[in-house]
Amino acid sequence: MTRPEGQVLLEVSDLGKVFPGRRVGFSRRVGPSVQALRGASFTLREGEVVGIVGESGSGKTTLIRTILRLIPATSGSVRLLGRDILGLDAKAVREFVRPNVRMIFQHPEAVLNPGYTIGTALAKPLELYESGPDEAATHERVIQLLATVGLGPEFADKLPRELSGGEKRRVGLCRALATRPRVILADEPISGLDVFLQERVLAWLLRERARRRFGLVIVSHDLERVNQVCDRVLVMYRGRIVEDMVLREREGRAADQFVHPYSQLLQRSRVDLLARSDGAVEGVGAPLESWAADAADGCVYALQCARRAELGSPADCGSEMPGSRALTPGHRVACHHAEAPMGGADGVHKGPLEAGGTA
Ligand SMILES: Nc1ncnc2c1ncn2[C@@H]1O[C@H](COP(=O)(O)OP(=O)(O)O)[C@@H](O)[C@H]1O
Ligand SMILES: [Mg+2]
Repeated sequence: MTRPEGQVLLEVSDLGKVFPGRRVGFSRRVGPSVQALRGASFTLREGEVVGIVGESGSGKTTLIRTILRLIPATSGSVRLLGRDILGLDAKAVREFVRPNVRMIFQHPEAVLNPGYTIGTALAKPLELYESGPDEAATHERVIQLLATVGLGPEFADKLPRELSGGEKRRVGLCRALATRPRVILADEPISGLDVFLQERVLAWLLRERARRRFGLVIVSHDLERVNQVCDRVLVMYRGRIVEDMVLREREGRAADQFVHPYSQLLQRSRVDLLARSDGAVEGVGAPLESWAADAADGCVYALQCARRAELGSPADCGSEMPGSRALTPGHRVACHHAEAPMGGADGVHKGPLEAGGTA
């Protein structure tokens, strides 16, 4: 691998999140709890771009909200710049986590106060974390920030309602950049934008990443798009990171080969994971209602898995959650039978991989 190994910025280990069951209607009955994250682990390095893909409801947003300390984790740990952040008190979160890890929200409306101008919205984090009370310096930085996403200085005086959806997204990007963060977590930063704007938003993000060397996580439901811009991709299914693969340098990219049957399905079928409003996609995954009902034991993908069927339903798939293990350096998979040759008609997976890599 030719890519230089930057400093580890974020180290997520075995992160788990269980949402308690909600009360059903007006009855006293409480619905089943939801295991939104199951032992999620990954690292993010300086300057690295990591994509997280998975269908709606697979836990992508929960993963980044937990890392940001917006919701409490049920288990596991998160280290930011070497420091464990899940145990920090509110003051330390404000001082250490907030400026260093920024989120780009899927719906920027939710964080833009309708009564504040864009200039005020951007000045707040700047005053808190960068320029202090120096008004002129702050104003100058606001104009600079707006310019990085192609917005003129006149936008500083506008209210959120005067902006188009795309312009709000761009302001959301500015907000994330304002504190000179080490890590940016972007939740579906380009979904719902037209293709032209998608390209530009990605280009801005990647340009700033190259300039400032922050680590960037891009959550997306579009595996193909993510493959084009990321150094590494994590595939999530029902709260589990089922595959974590470094994408080769450009010339070798065609050789990238997912081995988890779910990743292969995504790659092969090119499904739009937002195709259906209920989040389930034909042939991909189970309806969300069955989520909580399924057994905690066994592989999260067992019931849908073509490989399991092909192998005659080996017992371990149903009884034991496969751990995430390294197949080769830079490639981890959570599947008991990742090495099993697949005789599928499509021939996506050709023969066993070298087992027992490091990392
Ligand atoms: N605040 C919450 N309370 C209860 N369940 C939640 C909450 N937030 C998310 N969930 C559930 O957790 C699962 C993962 O959701 P989410 O992280 O939003 O997925 P994604 O971002 O991949 O679409 C879903 O089943 C969702 O319904
Ligand atoms: Mg989401």
